[in-house]
Amino acid sequence: MRYPHMIIALCALFIVSMSSAKIASAADGTEILKQRCASCHALKGPAAKTLAQLWQRKGPDLFYAGNKYNKTWVEAWLQNPKRIRPAGMFYRQHIKPGPKHDIVDKSTLKPHIILTKTEAKAVANALMKLKANSELTAKEKLVPGPSPIGEMMFDKIYGCMACHQIEPGYGGMSGPEVFTAAKRLQPAFMLSYIKNPQAWDPKIWMPNKHAPVDNIQQLVNYLIELSKEDFSDVK
Ligand code: HEC
Ligand code: HEC
Repeated sequence: MRYPHMIIALCALFIVSMSSAKIASAADGTEILKQRCASCHALKGPAAKTLAQLWQRKGPDLFYAGNKYNKTWVEAWLQNPKRIRPAGMFYRQHIKPGPKHDIVDKSTLKPHIILTKTEAKAVANALMKLKANSELTAKEKLVPGPSPIGEMMFDKIYGCMACHQIEPGYGGMSGPEVFTAAKRLQPAFMLSYIKNPQAWDPKIWMPNKHAPVDNIQQLVNYLIELSKEDFSDVK
Protein backbone atom coordinates (compact mmCIF):
# COMPACT_ATOMS: atom_id res chain seq x y z
CA MET A 1 0.00 0.00 0.00
CA ARG A 2 2.03 3.00 -1.22
CA TYR A 3 -0.83 5.39 -1.84
CA PRO A 4 -1.61 6.59 1.72
CA HIS A 5 1.99 7.64 2.09
CA MET A 6 1.86 9.56 -1.11
CA ILE A 7 -1.32 11.30 -0.04
CA ILE A 8 0.24 12.24 3.29
CA ALA A 9 3.37 13.46 1.52
CA LEU A 10 1.31 15.56 -0.90
CA CYS A 11 -0.72 17.02 1.95
CA ALA A 12 2.48 17.93 3.78
CA LEU A 13 3.87 19.53 0.64
CA PHE A 14 0.65 21.48 0.18
CA ILE A 15 0.70 22.74 3.77
CA VAL A 16 4.36 23.75 3.52
CA SER A 17 3.82 25.63 0.26
CA MET A 18 0.69 27.31 1.64
CA SER A 19 2.49 28.53 4.72
CA SER A 20 5.50 29.85 2.82
CA ALA A 21 3.13 31.66 0.45
CA LYS A 22 1.46 33.12 3.50
CA ILE A 23 4.72 34.40 4.99
CA ALA A 24 5.42 36.41 1.86
CA SER A 25 1.89 37.78 1.62
CA ALA A 26 1.17 41.46 1.30
CA ALA A 27 -0.76 41.34 4.60
CA ASP A 28 2.40 40.34 6.47
CA GLY A 29 4.32 43.00 4.57
CA THR A 30 1.78 45.59 5.70
CA GLU A 31 2.32 44.52 9.31
CA ILE A 32 6.11 44.89 8.94
CA LEU A 33 5.65 48.31 7.35
CA LYS A 34 3.46 49.50 10.23
CA GLN A 35 5.71 48.15 12.94
CA ARG A 36 9.21 48.69 11.63
CA CYS A 37 9.07 51.33 8.91
CA ALA A 38 6.36 53.87 9.76
CA SER A 39 8.58 55.73 12.23
CA CYS A 40 10.63 57.04 9.28
CA HIS A 41 8.44 56.57 6.19
CA ALA A 42 4.99 58.01 5.50
CA LEU A 43 2.68 55.13 4.51
CA LYS A 44 -0.23 57.54 4.05
CA GLY A 45 -0.46 60.85 2.21
CA PRO A 46 -0.50 63.72 1.78
CA ALA A 47 3.15 64.72 1.34
CA ALA A 48 4.67 67.47 3.50
CA LYS A 49 2.78 70.73 3.08
CA THR A 50 5.29 73.00 4.82
CA LEU A 51 9.08 73.27 4.76
CA ALA A 52 9.16 72.50 8.47
CA GLN A 53 7.40 69.18 7.79
CA LEU A 54 9.69 68.44 4.84
CA TRP A 55 12.82 68.95 6.92
CA GLN A 56 11.54 66.58 9.56
CA ARG A 57 11.18 63.78 7.02
CA LYS A 58 13.30 60.84 8.10
CA GLY A 59 12.93 58.72 4.96
CA PRO A 60 11.31 59.00 1.51
CA ASP A 61 7.50 58.89 1.45
CA LEU A 62 6.28 55.41 0.62
CA PHE A 63 2.56 56.06 0.25
CA TYR A 64 2.86 56.05 -3.56
CA ALA A 65 5.46 53.24 -3.66
CA GLY A 66 3.33 51.19 -6.07
CA ASN A 67 3.51 53.98 -8.64
CA LYS A 68 7.20 54.69 -8.07
CA TYR A 69 9.43 51.66 -7.63
CA ASN A 70 10.33 48.62 -9.67
CA LYS A 71 9.25 45.74 -7.50
CA THR A 72 12.30 43.55 -8.16
CA TRP A 73 14.58 46.43 -7.17
CA VAL A 74 12.71 47.09 -3.89
CA GLU A 75 12.86 43.44 -2.94
CA ALA A 76 16.60 43.20 -3.61
CA TRP A 77 17.48 46.58 -2.04
CA LEU A 78 15.71 45.82 1.23
CA GLN A 79 17.97 42.79 1.65
CA ASN A 80 21.10 44.69 0.70
CA PRO A 81 20.51 48.44 1.05
CA LYS A 82 23.11 50.73 -0.54
CA ARG A 83 23.04 54.48 -0.04
CA ILE A 84 21.04 56.39 -2.65
CA ARG A 85 21.19 59.94 -1.28
CA PRO A 86 24.90 60.66 -0.76
CA ALA A 87 24.16 63.23 1.95
CA GLY A 88 21.09 61.62 3.49
CA MET A 89 17.47 62.76 3.37
CA PHE A 90 18.21 66.36 4.12
CA TYR A 91 21.71 67.23 2.97
CA ARG A 92 22.09 70.29 5.19
CA GLN A 93 22.11 68.04 8.23
CA HIS A 94 24.91 65.87 6.88
CA ILE A 95 27.47 68.15 5.22
CA LYS A 96 30.43 69.88 6.81
CA PRO A 97 32.98 72.31 5.39
CA GLY A 98 35.93 70.61 3.66
CA PRO A 99 39.26 72.03 2.40
CA LYS A 100 37.81 73.04 -1.01
CA HIS A 101 34.08 72.56 -0.71
CA ASP A 102 31.51 70.97 1.57
CA ILE A 103 31.88 67.25 2.20
CA VAL A 104 29.51 64.64 3.57
CA ASP A 105 29.89 63.95 7.27
CA LYS A 106 29.45 60.19 6.98
CA SER A 107 29.49 59.72 10.75
CA THR A 108 26.02 61.28 10.85
CA LEU A 109 24.56 58.84 8.30
CA LYS A 110 23.11 55.63 9.64
CA PRO A 111 22.89 52.35 7.72
CA HIS A 112 19.41 51.24 6.62
CA ILE A 113 17.51 48.42 8.30
CA ILE A 114 18.06 45.06 6.51
CA LEU A 115 15.25 42.57 5.86
CA THR A 116 15.43 38.84 5.28
CA LYS A 117 14.47 37.46 1.90
CA THR A 118 11.02 36.42 3.09
CA GLU A 119 10.37 39.74 4.80
CA ALA A 120 11.59 41.70 1.77
CA LYS A 121 9.27 39.74 -0.51
CA ALA A 122 6.27 40.38 1.74
CA VAL A 123 7.12 44.07 2.09
CA ALA A 124 7.65 44.49 -1.67
CA ASN A 125 4.21 42.95 -2.25
CA ALA A 126 2.67 45.33 0.28
CA LEU A 127 4.50 48.38 -1.11
CA MET A 128 3.27 47.71 -4.64
CA LYS A 129 -0.27 48.04 -3.32
CA LEU A 130 0.36 51.54 -1.98
CA LYS A 131 -0.87 53.76 -4.77
CA ALA A 132 -1.46 57.48 -4.87
CA ASN A 133 -1.15 60.01 -7.68
CA SER A 134 -2.16 57.34 -10.22
CA GLU A 135 -3.75 60.10 -12.28
CA LEU A 136 -0.24 61.58 -12.75
CA THR A 137 1.48 58.38 -13.87
CA ALA A 138 -1.49 57.38 -16.08
CA LYS A 139 -0.72 60.41 -18.29
CA GLU A 140 2.86 59.32 -18.94
CA LYS A 141 4.25 56.81 -21.39
CA LEU A 142 7.91 56.39 -22.20
CA VAL A 143 8.87 56.15 -25.86
CA PRO A 144 12.13 54.21 -25.61
CA GLY A 145 14.80 55.51 -27.95
CA PRO A 146 18.18 57.16 -28.28
CA SER A 147 18.98 60.26 -26.30
CA PRO A 148 21.43 62.25 -28.42
CA ILE A 149 21.55 65.30 -26.17
CA GLY A 150 20.11 63.81 -22.97
CA GLU A 151 23.40 64.06 -21.12
CA MET A 152 23.99 67.62 -22.28
CA MET A 153 20.52 68.58 -21.09
CA PHE A 154 21.11 66.91 -17.74
CA ASP A 155 24.54 68.43 -17.13
CA LYS A 156 24.35 71.82 -18.81
CA ILE A 157 21.01 72.95 -20.22
CA TYR A 158 18.90 72.16 -17.16
CA GLY A 159 21.64 71.94 -14.55
CA CYS A 160 20.25 68.73 -13.05
CA MET A 161 23.76 67.62 -12.13
CA ALA A 162 24.03 70.38 -9.55
CA CYS A 163 21.93 68.15 -7.28
CA HIS A 164 22.30 64.64 -8.71
CA GLN A 165 25.32 62.37 -9.13
CA ILE A 166 25.63 60.74 -12.56
CA GLU A 167 28.51 58.56 -11.31
CA PRO A 168 29.55 57.67 -7.79
CA GLY A 169 31.17 60.83 -6.40
CA TYR A 170 30.45 62.95 -9.50
CA GLY A 171 27.64 65.49 -9.29
CA GLY A 172 25.60 67.26 -6.64
CA MET A 173 24.59 65.82 -3.30
CA SER A 174 21.27 67.37 -2.41
CA GLY A 175 19.25 64.84 -4.44
CA PRO A 176 19.33 61.07 -4.97
CA GLU A 177 22.02 59.57 -7.23
CA VAL A 178 20.56 59.12 -10.71
CA PHE A 179 22.90 56.50 -12.15
CA THR A 180 20.68 53.90 -10.45
CA ALA A 181 17.39 55.78 -10.99
CA ALA A 182 16.12 53.67 -13.89
CA LYS A 183 16.85 50.47 -11.98
CA ARG A 184 14.85 51.76 -9.05
CA LEU A 185 12.04 53.74 -10.62
CA GLN A 186 9.18 53.14 -13.03
CA PRO A 187 9.52 55.11 -16.30
CA ALA A 188 6.13 56.82 -15.86
CA PHE A 189 7.17 58.02 -12.41
CA MET A 190 10.41 59.51 -13.72
CA LEU A 191 8.60 61.29 -16.57
CA SER A 192 5.97 62.68 -14.23
CA TYR A 193 8.39 63.70 -11.47
CA ILE A 194 10.71 65.56 -13.87
CA LYS A 195 7.70 67.26 -15.49
CA ASN A 196 6.44 68.57 -12.15
CA PRO A 197 8.21 67.53 -8.93
CA GLN A 198 5.81 69.61 -6.82
CA ALA A 199 2.83 67.61 -8.06
CA TRP A 200 4.36 64.74 -6.04
CA ASP A 201 5.96 66.66 -3.24
CA PRO A 202 4.73 70.28 -2.96
CA LYS A 203 7.70 71.59 -0.96
CA ILE A 204 10.59 69.66 -2.54
CA TRP A 205 13.56 71.79 -3.65
CA MET A 206 13.91 70.18 -7.10
CA PRO A 207 12.90 72.95 -9.52
CA ASN A 208 10.24 72.57 -12.18
CA LYS A 209 12.25 73.40 -15.31
CA HIS A 210 9.15 73.42 -17.54
CA ALA A 211 11.00 71.22 -20.01
CA PRO A 212 9.08 70.32 -23.19
CA VAL A 213 7.69 66.77 -23.29
CA ASP A 214 10.25 65.61 -25.90
CA ASN A 215 13.12 66.75 -23.72
CA ILE A 216 11.71 64.94 -20.69
CA GLN A 217 11.51 61.78 -22.80
CA GLN A 218 15.18 62.24 -23.70
CA LEU A 219 16.16 62.87 -20.09
CA VAL A 220 14.51 59.62 -18.99
CA ASN A 221 16.03 57.69 -21.91
CA TYR A 222 19.38 59.12 -20.81
CA LEU A 223 18.79 57.88 -17.24
CA ILE A 224 17.97 54.45 -18.64
CA GLU A 225 21.25 54.43 -20.63
CA LEU A 226 23.11 55.58 -17.53
CA SER A 227 21.70 52.79 -15.38
CA LYS A 228 23.17 50.20 -17.75
CA GLU A 229 26.67 51.24 -16.70
CA ASP A 230 27.98 49.12 -13.87
CA PHE A 231 29.49 51.10 -11.03
CA SER A 232 29.21 48.35 -8.45
CA ASP A 233 32.99 48.04 -8.13
CA VAL A 234 33.31 51.80 -7.53
CA LYS A 235 30.65 52.10 -4.82
C1 HEC B 1 15.46 55.11 10.95
C2 HEC B 1 14.64 55.49 9.81
C3 HEC B 1 14.21 54.41 8.84
C4 HEC B 1 13.55 53.23 9.08
C5 HEC B 1 13.08 52.67 10.42
C6 HEC B 1 13.31 52.63 7.79
N1 HEC B 1 13.82 53.42 6.78
FE1 HEC B 1 13.69 53.07 4.81
N2 HEC B 1 14.84 54.70 4.43
C7 HEC B 1 15.31 55.57 5.38
C8 HEC B 1 16.17 56.54 4.74
C9 HEC B 1 16.91 57.69 5.42
C10 HEC B 1 16.20 56.22 3.37
C11 HEC B 1 16.99 56.90 2.27
C12 HEC B 1 18.23 56.08 2.05
C13 HEC B 1 19.17 56.62 1.00
O1 HEC B 1 18.84 57.54 0.29
O2 HEC B 1 20.26 56.05 0.88
C14 HEC B 1 15.34 55.05 3.21
C15 HEC B 1 15.10 54.45 1.98
C16 HEC B 1 14.18 53.44 1.81
C17 HEC B 1 13.79 52.92 0.52
C18 HEC B 1 14.29 53.43 -0.82
C19 HEC B 1 13.36 54.51 -1.23
C20 HEC B 1 13.86 55.61 -2.11
O3 HEC B 1 13.03 56.26 -2.77
O4 HEC B 1 15.05 55.87 -2.15
C21 HEC B 1 12.86 51.94 0.75
C22 HEC B 1 12.13 51.12 -0.30
C23 HEC B 1 12.72 51.82 2.18
N3 HEC B 1 13.54 52.75 2.79
C24 HEC B 1 11.88 50.94 2.82
C25 HEC B 1 11.87 50.73 4.20
C26 HEC B 1 11.17 49.67 4.84
C27 HEC B 1 10.33 48.63 4.12
C28 HEC B 1 11.39 49.79 6.19
C29 HEC B 1 10.89 48.92 7.30
C30 HEC B 1 11.20 47.51 7.21
C31 HEC B 1 12.23 50.95 6.38
N4 HEC B 1 12.52 51.48 5.15
C32 HEC B 1 12.65 51.44 7.60
C33 HEC B 1 15.02 55.55 6.73
C34 HEC B 1 14.39 54.50 7.39
C1 HEC C 1 18.05 71.90 -6.68
C2 HEC C 1 18.35 70.49 -6.74
C3 HEC C 1 17.77 69.67 -7.88
C4 HEC C 1 17.85 69.90 -9.23
C5 HEC C 1 18.47 71.08 -9.95
C6 HEC C 1 17.22 68.77 -9.87
N1 HEC C 1 16.80 67.87 -8.93
FE1 HEC C 1 15.94 66.08 -9.31
N2 HEC C 1 15.60 65.82 -7.34
C7 HEC C 1 16.02 66.67 -6.34
C8 HEC C 1 15.46 66.22 -5.09
C9 HEC C 1 15.65 66.89 -3.76
C10 HEC C 1 14.70 65.05 -5.39
C11 HEC C 1 13.85 64.17 -4.47
C12 HEC C 1 14.54 63.74 -3.27
C13 HEC C 1 14.00 62.56 -2.55
O1 HEC C 1 13.15 61.83 -3.05
O2 HEC C 1 14.46 62.39 -1.47
C14 HEC C 1 14.84 64.82 -6.81
C15 HEC C 1 14.29 63.73 -7.46
C16 HEC C 1 14.54 63.41 -8.78
C17 HEC C 1 14.17 62.19 -9.41
C18 HEC C 1 13.55 61.00 -8.71
C19 HEC C 1 14.74 60.34 -8.08
C20 HEC C 1 14.51 59.32 -7.04
O3 HEC C 1 15.44 58.57 -6.82
O4 HEC C 1 13.44 59.28 -6.45
C21 HEC C 1 14.59 62.26 -10.72
C22 HEC C 1 14.45 61.20 -11.79
C23 HEC C 1 15.16 63.58 -10.90
N3 HEC C 1 15.13 64.25 -9.70
C24 HEC C 1 15.66 64.08 -12.10
C25 HEC C 1 16.06 65.40 -12.26
C26 HEC C 1 16.27 66.00 -13.56
C27 HEC C 1 16.13 65.31 -14.89
C28 HEC C 1 16.64 67.29 -13.31
C29 HEC C 1 16.91 68.38 -14.32
C30 HEC C 1 15.83 68.65 -15.24
C31 HEC C 1 16.69 67.47 -11.87
N4 HEC C 1 16.31 66.31 -11.28
C32 HEC C 1 17.07 68.64 -11.23
C33 HEC C 1 16.81 67.79 -6.50
C34 HEC C 1 17.10 68.39 -7.71
